[in-house]
Amino acid sequence: MSRSSCTRVYILGACDYADYEFVKIDQNNSTWSMINLRRQLEFRYYSRDRNCAGNYHLLAKSPVVEPLNYNEPTQVHLAFGDRNDQMFVSYVTNSNQLLPQCQYGLDSTSLDFQMSGTTVTYQASDMCEGKANVTSPQAFINPGFMHTILLEDLRPLTIYYYRVGNNEHGWSPIYHFTNRPATIDDEVNLIAYGDMGVSPIQSGAKATIDRVAARIQTNNITAVLHIGDVSYARGIGALWDAFMAQIELTTSYVAYMVGIGNHEYDHITGGDKDPSGAPGEGGFRPVWGNYGYDSGGECAVPMVHRFHSPSNGNGLFWYSFDIGPVHIVYYSTEHDFRRSSPQYNWLENDLRSVNRTRTPWLIVGSHRPMYTSLVVIDLVGLMLQLYIEPLLYTYQVDLNLYAHIHSYERTCSMYQHQCVENGVTQVLIGMGGHDLTYGNYSGAAWSVYHDIEFGYTHIKANRTHLTFNYYHTEDDRLVDQFQLKKS
Ligand SMILES: [Fe+2]
Repeated sequence: MSRSSCTRVYILGACDYADYEFVKIDQNNSTWSMINLRRQLEFRYYSRDRNCAGNYHLLAKSPVVEPLNYNEPTQVHLAFGDRNDQMFVSYVTNSNQLLPQCQYGLDSTSLDFQMSGTTVTYQASDMCEGKANVTSPQAFINPGFMHTILLEDLRPLTIYYYRVGNNEHGWSPIYHFTNRPATIDDEVNLIAYGDMGVSPIQSGAKATIDRVAARIQTNNITAVLHIGDVSYARGIGALWDAFMAQIELTTSYVAYMVGIGNHEYDHITGGDKDPSGAPGEGGFRPVWGNYGYDSGGECAVPMVHRFHSPSNGNGLFWYSFDIGPVHIVYYSTEHDFRRSSPQYNWLENDLRSVNRTRTPWLIVGSHRPMYTSLVVIDLVGLMLQLYIEPLLYTYQVDLNLYAHIHSYERTCSMYQHQCVENGVTQVLIGMGGHDLTYGNYSGAAWSVYHDIEFGYTHIKANRTHLTFNYYHTEDDRLVDQFQLKKS
Protein backbone atom coordinates (compact mmCIF):
# COMPACT_ATOMS: atom_id res chain seq x y z
CA MET A 1 0.00 0.00 0.00
CA SER A 2 1.23 3.48 -0.76
CA ARG A 3 1.47 6.41 1.62
CA SER A 4 -2.08 7.55 1.01
CA SER A 5 -5.57 6.24 0.40
CA CYS A 6 -8.75 7.70 -0.97
CA THR A 7 -12.28 7.79 0.37
CA ARG A 8 -14.85 7.77 -2.37
CA VAL A 9 -18.43 7.18 -3.29
CA TYR A 10 -18.25 4.21 -5.59
CA ILE A 11 -20.31 4.01 -8.73
CA LEU A 12 -18.59 2.21 -11.54
CA GLY A 13 -14.85 1.82 -11.59
CA ALA A 14 -11.65 3.20 -10.20
CA CYS A 15 -12.11 6.68 -11.63
CA ASP A 16 -15.85 6.71 -12.14
CA TYR A 17 -16.78 8.34 -8.87
CA ALA A 18 -19.25 10.87 -7.56
CA ASP A 19 -16.78 12.50 -5.24
CA TYR A 20 -13.63 11.54 -3.44
CA GLU A 21 -10.93 12.90 -1.24
CA PHE A 22 -7.33 11.86 -0.84
CA VAL A 23 -6.60 10.91 2.74
CA LYS A 24 -3.10 11.00 4.19
CA ILE A 25 -1.99 7.88 6.00
CA ASP A 26 -1.48 9.80 9.25
CA GLN A 27 -4.83 11.59 9.02
CA ASN A 28 -7.18 10.65 11.87
CA ASN A 29 -10.39 11.94 10.39
CA SER A 30 -11.78 13.73 7.37
CA THR A 31 -14.98 15.62 6.67
CA TRP A 32 -16.51 17.10 3.55
CA SER A 33 -19.92 18.07 2.26
CA MET A 34 -21.90 15.25 0.76
CA ILE A 35 -23.49 16.09 -2.58
CA ASN A 36 -27.21 15.46 -2.63
CA LEU A 37 -27.48 12.90 -5.41
CA ARG A 38 -31.15 12.26 -4.61
CA ARG A 39 -30.43 8.67 -3.60
CA GLN A 40 -28.86 6.51 -0.95
CA LEU A 41 -25.09 6.58 -0.85
CA GLU A 42 -22.28 4.58 0.64
CA PHE A 43 -18.84 5.90 1.50
CA ARG A 44 -15.94 3.57 0.80
CA TYR A 45 -12.35 3.74 1.89
CA TYR A 46 -9.79 2.39 -0.52
CA SER A 47 -6.09 1.89 -0.66
CA ARG A 48 -4.61 3.08 -3.90
CA ASP A 49 -1.40 3.19 -5.84
CA ARG A 50 -1.53 6.34 -7.96
CA ASN A 51 -4.42 8.68 -8.73
CA CYS A 52 -7.05 6.08 -7.82
CA ALA A 53 -6.51 4.64 -11.28
CA GLY A 54 -4.74 1.35 -10.78
CA ASN A 55 -4.49 -1.39 -8.18
CA TYR A 56 -6.63 -0.54 -5.19
CA HIS A 57 -8.72 -2.45 -2.73
CA LEU A 58 -11.59 -1.82 -0.37
CA LEU A 59 -10.58 -1.25 3.27
CA ALA A 60 -13.88 -0.15 4.84
CA LYS A 61 -17.31 1.16 4.01
CA SER A 62 -19.91 3.25 5.81
CA PRO A 63 -23.52 2.39 6.53
CA VAL A 64 -25.85 3.52 3.78
CA VAL A 65 -26.67 7.20 4.17
CA GLU A 66 -29.31 9.26 2.44
CA PRO A 67 -30.24 12.91 2.00
CA LEU A 68 -32.60 14.42 4.56
CA ASN A 69 -34.61 15.89 1.67
CA TYR A 70 -34.53 14.18 -1.73
CA ASN A 71 -36.18 17.26 -3.19
CA GLU A 72 -33.85 19.84 -1.70
CA PRO A 73 -33.31 22.60 -4.29
CA THR A 74 -29.68 22.12 -5.39
CA GLN A 75 -27.33 23.35 -8.12
CA VAL A 76 -28.84 26.84 -8.17
CA HIS A 77 -27.53 28.82 -11.13
CA LEU A 78 -28.26 31.98 -13.11
CA ALA A 79 -27.99 32.89 -16.80
CA PHE A 80 -28.91 35.85 -18.97
CA GLY A 81 -31.99 35.70 -21.16
CA ASP A 82 -32.69 37.50 -24.43
CA ARG A 83 -33.26 40.89 -22.89
CA ASN A 84 -31.48 43.00 -20.31
CA ASP A 85 -34.46 42.75 -17.98
CA GLN A 86 -34.44 38.93 -17.95
CA MET A 87 -32.62 36.34 -15.86
CA PHE A 88 -32.93 32.56 -15.90
CA VAL A 89 -32.90 30.95 -12.45
CA SER A 90 -32.35 27.18 -12.49
CA TYR A 91 -32.09 24.38 -9.93
CA VAL A 92 -32.44 20.62 -9.55
CA THR A 93 -34.68 18.39 -7.41
CA ASN A 94 -35.92 14.82 -7.54
CA SER A 95 -39.48 15.71 -8.49
CA ASN A 96 -41.48 16.96 -11.44
CA GLN A 97 -44.74 16.87 -9.52
CA LEU A 98 -44.96 20.52 -8.54
CA LEU A 99 -44.42 23.79 -10.41
CA PRO A 100 -40.94 25.15 -9.77
CA GLN A 101 -41.08 28.57 -8.19
CA CYS A 102 -38.85 31.53 -7.55
CA GLN A 103 -39.71 34.13 -4.92
CA TYR A 104 -37.78 37.36 -5.31
CA GLY A 105 -37.70 40.97 -4.26
CA LEU A 106 -35.62 44.02 -3.52
CA ASP A 107 -35.12 43.11 0.13
CA SER A 108 -34.11 39.77 1.61
CA THR A 109 -36.90 40.04 4.15
CA SER A 110 -39.67 40.68 1.63
CA LEU A 111 -39.59 38.42 -1.42
CA ASP A 112 -42.78 39.95 -2.75
CA PHE A 113 -42.73 38.60 -6.29
CA GLN A 114 -43.20 35.02 -7.41
CA MET A 115 -42.73 33.35 -10.79
CA SER A 116 -43.26 29.74 -11.87
CA GLY A 117 -41.12 27.86 -14.35
CA THR A 118 -40.69 24.68 -16.33
CA THR A 119 -39.12 21.28 -15.72
CA VAL A 120 -37.04 19.00 -17.95
CA THR A 121 -34.90 15.90 -17.59
CA TYR A 122 -33.14 13.40 -19.82
CA GLN A 123 -32.39 9.70 -19.98
CA ALA A 124 -29.31 7.75 -21.01
CA SER A 125 -31.04 6.92 -24.27
CA ASP A 126 -31.35 10.64 -25.09
CA MET A 127 -27.57 10.90 -25.50
CA CYS A 128 -25.59 9.93 -28.58
CA GLU A 129 -23.33 7.01 -27.79
CA GLY A 130 -20.75 5.35 -25.61
CA LYS A 131 -20.44 5.61 -21.86
CA ALA A 132 -23.24 8.19 -21.67
CA ASN A 133 -25.71 5.51 -22.80
CA VAL A 134 -24.59 2.94 -20.21
CA THR A 135 -27.12 2.32 -17.45
CA SER A 136 -25.73 -0.90 -16.01
CA PRO A 137 -23.26 -0.67 -14.37
CA GLN A 138 -24.21 2.89 -13.71
CA ALA A 139 -22.25 5.40 -15.75
CA PHE A 140 -25.59 7.13 -16.16
CA ILE A 141 -27.50 8.06 -13.05
CA ASN A 142 -30.89 9.70 -12.98
CA PRO A 143 -29.94 13.38 -13.25
CA GLY A 144 -33.04 14.53 -11.36
CA PHE A 145 -35.32 17.22 -12.71
CA MET A 146 -33.95 20.53 -13.94
CA HIS A 147 -36.23 23.46 -13.15
CA THR A 148 -35.94 26.88 -14.73
CA ILE A 149 -37.79 30.10 -14.04
CA LEU A 150 -37.38 33.16 -16.27
CA LEU A 151 -37.53 36.38 -14.27
CA GLU A 152 -38.57 39.44 -16.27
CA ASP A 153 -38.97 43.18 -15.86
CA LEU A 154 -35.79 43.38 -13.80
CA ARG A 155 -34.20 46.79 -13.45
CA PRO A 156 -30.57 47.23 -14.47
CA LEU A 157 -27.89 47.40 -11.80
CA THR A 158 -30.42 46.48 -9.14
CA ILE A 159 -29.88 43.89 -6.42
CA TYR A 160 -32.54 41.17 -6.32
CA TYR A 161 -32.86 38.66 -3.49
CA TYR A 162 -34.38 35.32 -4.35
CA ARG A 163 -34.98 31.72 -3.38
CA VAL A 164 -36.23 28.71 -5.35
CA GLY A 165 -38.33 25.68 -4.47
CA ASN A 166 -41.84 25.40 -3.10
CA ASN A 167 -43.61 25.03 0.20
CA GLU A 168 -43.89 21.26 -0.03
CA HIS A 169 -40.31 20.41 -1.01
CA GLY A 170 -38.64 23.28 0.79
CA TRP A 171 -36.76 26.34 -0.31
CA SER A 172 -33.15 27.11 -1.14
CA PRO A 173 -31.23 29.63 0.95
CA ILE A 174 -31.85 33.24 -0.07
CA TYR A 175 -29.28 34.34 -2.64
CA HIS A 176 -28.96 37.62 -4.48
CA PHE A 177 -27.74 38.95 -7.82
CA THR A 178 -27.22 42.37 -9.34
CA ASN A 179 -28.97 42.58 -12.69
CA ARG A 180 -26.67 43.47 -15.57
CA PRO A 181 -26.10 47.09 -16.56
CA ALA A 182 -27.82 48.33 -19.70
CA THR A 183 -25.98 51.43 -20.90
CA ILE A 184 -22.62 52.42 -22.31
CA ASP A 185 -21.94 54.56 -19.25
CA ASP A 186 -21.94 51.61 -16.84
CA GLU A 187 -18.81 49.74 -15.76
CA VAL A 188 -18.76 45.97 -16.21
CA ASN A 189 -16.71 43.34 -14.38
CA LEU A 190 -16.44 39.85 -15.83
CA ILE A 191 -14.58 36.67 -14.86
CA ALA A 192 -13.41 34.44 -17.72
CA TYR A 193 -11.73 31.05 -18.07
CA GLY A 194 -12.09 27.68 -19.76
CA ASP A 195 -11.31 24.05 -18.94
CA MET A 196 -12.26 23.63 -15.32
CA GLY A 197 -13.71 20.21 -14.44
CA VAL A 198 -14.32 18.70 -11.04
CA SER A 199 -11.91 18.69 -8.14
CA PRO A 200 -9.94 16.76 -6.99
CA ILE A 201 -9.20 14.79 -10.16
CA GLN A 202 -8.63 18.16 -11.86
CA SER A 203 -6.34 19.54 -9.23
CA GLY A 204 -6.83 23.24 -9.82
CA ALA A 205 -10.60 23.27 -10.22
CA LYS A 206 -11.77 23.71 -6.63
CA ALA A 207 -8.98 26.16 -5.83
CA THR A 208 -9.83 28.29 -8.86
CA ILE A 209 -13.58 28.37 -8.30
CA ASP A 210 -12.97 29.26 -4.64
CA ARG A 211 -10.94 32.29 -5.80
CA VAL A 212 -13.68 33.21 -8.25
CA ALA A 213 -16.40 32.89 -5.61
CA ALA A 214 -14.45 35.15 -3.26
CA ARG A 215 -13.92 37.75 -6.00
CA ILE A 216 -17.61 37.72 -6.83
CA GLN A 217 -18.47 38.64 -3.27
CA THR A 218 -16.13 41.65 -3.28
CA ASN A 219 -15.73 42.95 -6.84
CA ASN A 220 -19.16 43.64 -8.25
CA ILE A 221 -18.84 40.90 -10.86
CA THR A 222 -21.68 40.76 -13.42
CA ALA A 223 -21.06 37.39 -15.07
CA VAL A 224 -18.67 34.48 -15.50
CA LEU A 225 -17.66 33.44 -19.01
CA HIS A 226 -16.76 29.73 -19.12
CA ILE A 227 -15.74 29.02 -22.70
CA GLY A 228 -16.00 25.29 -22.93
CA ASP A 229 -14.81 22.11 -21.25
CA VAL A 230 -17.04 22.65 -18.29
CA SER A 231 -17.49 19.57 -16.05
CA TYR A 232 -15.44 16.92 -17.91
CA ALA A 233 -18.15 14.45 -16.88
CA ARG A 234 -17.71 12.70 -20.22
CA GLY A 235 -20.59 10.31 -19.73
CA ILE A 236 -20.35 9.84 -15.95
CA GLY A 237 -23.63 11.38 -14.86
CA ALA A 238 -22.78 12.01 -11.22
CA LEU A 239 -19.87 14.24 -12.20
CA TRP A 240 -22.38 16.78 -13.50
CA ASP A 241 -23.92 16.88 -10.03
CA ALA A 242 -20.47 17.25 -8.49
CA PHE A 243 -19.53 20.07 -10.86
CA MET A 244 -22.77 21.97 -10.41
CA ALA A 245 -22.35 21.72 -6.63
CA GLN A 246 -18.75 22.89 -6.93
CA ILE A 247 -19.70 26.08 -8.79
CA GLU A 248 -22.92 26.87 -6.90
CA LEU A 249 -21.37 29.55 -4.69
CA THR A 250 -20.59 31.39 -7.91
CA THR A 251 -23.56 30.52 -10.08
CA SER A 252 -26.18 31.43 -7.48
CA TYR A 253 -24.85 35.02 -7.44
CA VAL A 254 -23.91 35.83 -11.05
CA ALA A 255 -24.89 34.69 -14.51
CA TYR A 256 -22.77 31.74 -15.61
CA MET A 257 -22.52 31.91 -19.38
CA VAL A 258 -21.13 28.73 -20.93
CA GLY A 259 -19.75 27.93 -24.35
CA ILE A 260 -19.36 24.51 -25.96
CA GLY A 261 -16.13 22.52 -25.75
CA ASN A 262 -15.05 19.19 -27.15
CA HIS A 263 -15.68 17.54 -23.77
CA GLU A 264 -19.32 18.58 -23.85
CA TYR A 265 -20.07 17.86 -27.47
CA ASP A 266 -17.73 15.74 -29.57
CA HIS A 267 -19.18 12.42 -30.62
CA ILE A 268 -18.91 10.05 -33.56
CA THR A 269 -22.33 8.42 -33.85
CA GLY A 270 -25.89 9.05 -32.71
CA GLY A 271 -26.24 12.31 -34.58
CA ASP A 272 -30.03 12.17 -34.51
CA LYS A 273 -29.79 12.89 -30.74
CA ASP A 274 -27.48 15.90 -31.20
CA PRO A 275 -29.35 18.92 -29.80
CA SER A 276 -27.35 21.32 -31.98
CA GLY A 277 -28.95 19.92 -35.12
CA ALA A 278 -25.61 19.44 -36.86
CA PRO A 279 -25.92 17.22 -39.93
CA GLY A 280 -24.50 13.70 -40.05
CA GLU A 281 -23.84 11.00 -37.50
CA GLY A 282 -20.95 12.74 -35.77
CA GLY A 283 -21.35 16.39 -36.66
CA PHE A 284 -18.40 18.39 -37.99
CA ARG A 285 -15.59 16.02 -38.92
CA PRO A 286 -13.36 17.56 -41.63
CA VAL A 287 -10.31 15.52 -42.65
CA TRP A 288 -7.99 18.13 -41.12
CA GLY A 289 -9.77 18.07 -37.75
CA ASN A 290 -9.03 15.98 -34.68
CA TYR A 291 -12.63 15.78 -33.54
CA GLY A 292 -13.11 12.54 -31.58
CA TYR A 293 -15.60 11.30 -28.99
CA ASP A 294 -14.41 13.54 -26.18
CA SER A 295 -17.87 13.99 -24.61
CA GLY A 296 -18.10 10.31 -23.69
CA GLY A 297 -21.19 10.21 -25.86
CA GLU A 298 -23.03 13.05 -24.13
CA CYS A 299 -23.18 15.17 -27.31
CA ALA A 300 -24.13 18.21 -25.17
CA VAL A 301 -27.41 16.72 -23.90
CA PRO A 302 -26.58 17.19 -20.17
CA MET A 303 -25.24 20.65 -20.99
CA VAL A 304 -28.31 21.97 -22.79
CA HIS A 305 -30.61 20.63 -20.07
CA ARG A 306 -28.71 22.46 -17.34
CA PHE A 307 -27.57 25.77 -18.77
CA HIS A 308 -29.34 28.62 -20.50
CA SER A 309 -28.49 31.44 -22.86
CA PRO A 310 -30.08 34.03 -25.10
CA SER A 311 -31.89 32.46 -28.05
CA ASN A 312 -30.52 34.66 -30.84
CA GLY A 313 -28.25 31.99 -32.35
CA ASN A 314 -28.36 28.23 -31.91
CA GLY A 315 -28.97 27.48 -28.24
CA LEU A 316 -25.76 27.21 -26.20
CA PHE A 317 -23.79 26.50 -29.36
CA TRP A 318 -23.63 30.05 -30.66
CA TYR A 319 -25.25 33.15 -29.22
CA SER A 320 -24.50 36.71 -28.20
CA PHE A 321 -25.47 39.19 -25.53
CA ASP A 322 -24.79 42.71 -24.26
CA ILE A 323 -23.60 43.75 -20.83
CA GLY A 324 -23.36 47.53 -20.49
CA PRO A 325 -20.74 48.74 -22.99
CA VAL A 326 -19.70 45.19 -24.04
CA HIS A 327 -21.08 42.90 -26.74
CA ILE A 328 -20.06 39.25 -26.25
CA VAL A 329 -20.32 36.61 -28.96
CA TYR A 330 -19.85 32.86 -28.45
CA TYR A 331 -19.32 30.53 -31.35
CA SER A 332 -18.52 26.81 -31.49
CA THR A 333 -15.22 25.45 -32.76
CA GLU A 334 -16.89 22.01 -32.58
CA HIS A 335 -19.27 22.94 -35.39
CA ASP A 336 -18.68 23.86 -39.00
CA PHE A 337 -17.14 27.34 -39.03
CA ARG A 338 -16.20 27.43 -42.71
CA ARG A 339 -17.55 30.09 -45.01
CA SER A 340 -21.18 29.50 -45.98
CA SER A 341 -21.85 27.29 -42.97
CA PRO A 342 -24.91 28.31 -40.93
CA GLN A 343 -22.68 29.20 -38.00
CA TYR A 344 -20.34 31.34 -40.11
CA ASN A 345 -23.26 33.22 -41.60
CA TRP A 346 -24.76 33.81 -38.18
CA LEU A 347 -21.42 34.96 -36.75
CA GLU A 348 -20.79 37.40 -39.57
CA ASN A 349 -24.29 38.78 -39.29
CA ASP A 350 -23.96 39.20 -35.54
CA LEU A 351 -20.57 40.92 -35.79
CA ARG A 352 -21.81 43.17 -38.59
CA SER A 353 -24.89 44.24 -36.69
CA VAL A 354 -23.16 45.29 -33.47
CA ASN A 355 -23.86 48.94 -32.71
CA ARG A 356 -20.43 50.12 -31.59
CA THR A 357 -21.90 53.39 -30.41
CA ARG A 358 -23.94 51.46 -27.85
CA THR A 359 -21.45 48.66 -27.15
CA PRO A 360 -17.97 49.89 -28.13
CA TRP A 361 -16.29 46.72 -26.82
CA LEU A 362 -16.57 43.52 -28.82
CA ILE A 363 -15.43 40.24 -27.22
CA VAL A 364 -15.57 36.86 -28.95
CA GLY A 365 -15.33 33.55 -27.09
CA SER A 366 -14.91 30.02 -28.37
CA HIS A 367 -13.21 26.86 -27.21
CA ARG A 368 -10.28 25.90 -29.42
CA PRO A 369 -7.34 28.28 -29.83
CA MET A 370 -6.76 30.42 -32.87
CA TYR A 371 -3.20 31.16 -31.75
CA THR A 372 -0.76 29.72 -29.25
CA SER A 373 3.00 29.75 -29.43
CA LEU A 374 3.15 26.42 -27.61
CA VAL A 375 4.64 24.02 -30.11
CA VAL A 376 1.69 21.77 -30.97
CA ILE A 377 0.30 20.28 -34.17
CA ASP A 378 -3.02 22.06 -34.52
CA LEU A 379 -4.65 22.20 -37.92
CA VAL A 380 -7.91 23.42 -36.40
CA GLY A 381 -6.11 26.57 -35.25
CA LEU A 382 -4.81 27.15 -38.79
CA MET A 383 -8.34 26.78 -40.15
CA LEU A 384 -9.67 29.22 -37.56
CA GLN A 385 -7.01 31.66 -38.79
CA LEU A 386 -8.16 31.03 -42.36
CA TYR A 387 -11.93 31.28 -41.88
CA ILE A 388 -12.67 33.16 -38.66
CA GLU A 389 -9.76 35.53 -38.13
CA PRO A 390 -10.64 37.70 -41.17
CA LEU A 391 -14.14 38.11 -39.75
CA LEU A 392 -12.81 39.19 -36.38
CA TYR A 393 -10.40 41.64 -38.00
CA THR A 394 -12.95 43.06 -40.44
CA TYR A 395 -15.43 43.77 -37.68
CA GLN A 396 -12.77 45.08 -35.31
CA VAL A 397 -13.16 42.59 -32.52
CA ASP A 398 -11.19 43.76 -29.49
CA LEU A 399 -10.62 40.48 -27.66
CA ASN A 400 -10.71 36.90 -28.88
CA LEU A 401 -10.86 34.47 -25.96
CA TYR A 402 -10.34 30.72 -26.23
CA ALA A 403 -9.17 27.75 -24.17
CA HIS A 404 -8.66 23.98 -24.80
CA ILE A 405 -4.91 24.21 -24.19
CA HIS A 406 -4.55 24.38 -20.43
CA SER A 407 -2.38 27.43 -19.95
CA TYR A 408 -2.41 31.21 -20.39
CA GLU A 409 -1.06 33.24 -23.29
CA ARG A 410 -1.69 36.78 -24.50
CA THR A 411 -0.72 38.26 -27.84
CA CYS A 412 -0.17 41.74 -29.18
CA SER A 413 -2.92 43.35 -31.22
CA MET A 414 -2.46 41.15 -34.28
CA TYR A 415 -3.65 39.87 -37.64
CA GLN A 416 -2.36 36.89 -39.61
CA HIS A 417 0.74 36.31 -37.46
CA GLN A 418 1.74 39.99 -37.41
CA CYS A 419 1.42 42.61 -34.69
CA VAL A 420 -0.68 45.40 -36.18
CA GLU A 421 -2.58 48.44 -35.00
CA ASN A 422 -6.31 47.89 -34.80
CA GLY A 423 -5.87 44.13 -34.77
CA VAL A 424 -7.34 41.56 -32.40
CA THR A 425 -5.80 40.75 -29.02
CA GLN A 426 -5.87 36.98 -28.66
CA VAL A 427 -5.95 35.45 -25.19
CA LEU A 428 -5.70 31.77 -24.29
CA ILE A 429 -7.46 31.22 -20.95
CA GLY A 430 -7.53 27.43 -20.63
CA MET A 431 -5.98 27.48 -17.15
CA GLY A 432 -9.27 27.24 -15.22
CA GLY A 433 -8.45 24.14 -13.21
CA HIS A 434 -8.07 21.00 -15.30
CA ASP A 435 -4.55 19.63 -15.60
CA LEU A 436 -1.96 21.93 -17.18
CA THR A 437 -0.57 21.66 -20.71
CA TYR A 438 3.21 21.72 -20.61
CA GLY A 439 5.42 22.22 -23.63
CA ASN A 440 7.93 24.41 -25.39
CA TYR A 441 7.18 27.85 -26.76
CA SER A 442 8.19 28.83 -30.26
CA GLY A 443 9.28 32.35 -29.39
CA ALA A 444 6.75 33.89 -31.79
CA ALA A 445 7.04 37.68 -31.88
CA TRP A 446 3.30 38.16 -31.39
CA SER A 447 3.29 36.37 -28.03
CA VAL A 448 3.50 38.98 -25.27
CA TYR A 449 3.08 36.87 -22.13
CA HIS A 450 2.53 33.21 -21.33
CA ASP A 451 2.74 30.87 -18.39
CA ILE A 452 1.53 27.45 -17.33
CA GLU A 453 -0.28 27.87 -14.02
CA PHE A 454 -3.85 27.57 -12.79
CA GLY A 455 -5.65 30.89 -12.82
CA TYR A 456 -8.58 33.03 -13.89
CA THR A 457 -9.05 36.40 -15.59
CA HIS A 458 -10.97 39.51 -14.60
CA ILE A 459 -12.12 41.90 -17.33
CA LYS A 460 -13.14 45.41 -16.34
CA ALA A 461 -14.68 47.65 -19.00
CA ASN A 462 -16.26 51.07 -19.19
CA ARG A 463 -17.03 53.34 -22.13
CA THR A 464 -13.39 54.14 -22.87
CA HIS A 465 -11.16 51.55 -21.17
CA LEU A 466 -11.00 47.77 -21.03
CA THR A 467 -8.58 46.39 -18.45
CA PHE A 468 -7.70 42.70 -18.58
CA ASN A 469 -6.20 41.06 -15.49
CA TYR A 470 -4.84 37.54 -15.13
CA TYR A 471 -4.50 36.07 -11.62
CA HIS A 472 -2.82 32.90 -10.45
CA THR A 473 -5.06 30.64 -8.42
CA GLU A 474 -2.38 29.64 -5.95
CA ASP A 475 -1.77 33.07 -4.40
CA ASP A 476 -4.35 35.27 -6.16
CA ARG A 477 -1.47 37.34 -7.50
CA LEU A 478 -1.93 39.58 -10.55
CA VAL A 479 0.58 38.30 -13.10
CA ASP A 480 -0.47 39.84 -16.40
CA GLN A 481 -2.42 42.98 -17.17
CA PHE A 482 -3.12 45.02 -20.26
CA GLN A 483 -5.44 47.84 -21.17
CA LEU A 484 -7.28 48.70 -24.38
CA LYS A 485 -8.62 52.19 -25.00
CA LYS A 486 -11.33 53.79 -27.09
CA SER A 487 -11.39 57.44 -27.95
FE1 LIG B 1 -11.02 21.19 -24.89
